[in-house]
Amino acid sequence: MNKPVALAADHGGFELKEAVRQHLDEIGVAYIDYGTTDGASCDYPDMALPACDAVVAGECRCALLFCGTGVGISIAANKVKGIRACCCSDAFSAEYTRRHNDANALCMGGRVVGAGLGILMVDAFLNTEFEGGRHQRRIDKLMAIETR
Ligand code: RB5
Repeated sequence: MNKPVALAADHGGFELKEAVRQHLDEIGVAYIDYGTTDGASCDYPDMALPACDAVVAGECRCALLFCGTGVGISIAANKVKGIRACCCSDAFSAEYTRRHNDANALCMGGRVVGAGLGILMVDAFLNTEFEGGRHQRRIDKLMAIETR
């Protein structure tokens, strides 16, 4: 059985997270929603951490993270050992960050992309496998930075 996806957003990404959450319901993809639960101001590192911890712990298959730009929450996510987060605003990048970077967190900005594009990106990300091969060598070098 597939592990759930981890969802998290700050207030800037809340509406987009809700649109993606509804989409996941419609296509039958399980998720754990780490908040936020409304549009009240909150801090994106606080929202990113539990979702990323769940991915690193193996409880969730990946994280879908949202803030105003997608940038702040991607920086926060990439501080968590074991996370390879990408901030995307197009479906090509969302697909290739799986193919080439084995990304385990997709970040996007609720003030940058609309729900339609966001859902396309989510589908591309969730439905694409890592290609391995020469890309694995690069991932190994990336991950070695965490312990140098
Ligand atoms: C919050 O206003 C905003 O700064 C945050 O959502 C995000 O865009 C930061 O990168």
